[in-house]
Amino acid sequence: MPKVKIAPSILSADLSKVSQEIKEVEKYADLIHVDIMDGIFVPPTTVNAEFVKTIKTKVPLDVHLMVHEPSDSYIKRFIDAGAYSVTIHEEACKYPSKQINFIKKNRVKAGISIKPNTSLDKIKKYLGIVDMVLVMTVEPGWAGQKFIEATMPKVRELRKLKPRLDIEVDGGINPITAGIAFEAGANVFVAGTSLFGKKDRVAAIKEILSTLK
Ligand code: DX5
Ligand code: ZN
Repeated sequence: MPKVKIAPSILSADLSKVSQEIKEVEKYADLIHVDIMDGIFVPPTTVNAEFVKTIKTKVPLDVHLMVHEPSDSYIKRFIDAGAYSVTIHEEACKYPSKQINFIKKNRVKAGISIKPNTSLDKIKKYLGIVDMVLVMTVEPGWAGQKFIEATMPKVRELRKLKPRLDIEVDGGINPITAGIAFEAGANVFVAGTSLFGKKDRVAAIKEILSTLK
């Protein structure tokens, strides 16, 4: 199983002082998860590449594009803004390999994500070319939703198929659900509400980490 990684999601942070917010958890964070929503693939909109460029952190940025059919130039803006990884949605792209290949050509890690009701079969053909699979554990679009445990068989099957692949879970992750997803085979844990929603963020991240052993 690959290294366990924690990815605080800035969707739940105070964006008016985002670099300061990140600084608090920097010591324990392996990635900073940045949710990009376009108002089409998901109803809300969030920050853009210009904003991402202003984030000051040494922690690699894990960009999650909840975006309908992102073009090369659109993706490139996030790469130029410093993305370490870019994840697209299977449901949002007609030919996901087009976006995956573009991301990889730019020497950035490429991920593919599936919503809770999307079957693993839809992405099996991309498993040989991606660096990460993001299994959504809530419906994409909003922070603070309840973890959907019915997504765990996908994580389990994926881990069996790909023992060394980064498998990320996103949505409703807290010390309890992180433990459930870890047991199923996930190794990258996105945490928004359960982390930035807390007063003591360091204690919160340590609590999640303590369940991942
Ligand atoms: C939801 C986003 C998540 C969100 C998770 O669409 O993709 O990254 O920040 O938030 P919590 O941890 O509150 O479920
Ligand atoms: Zn996300």
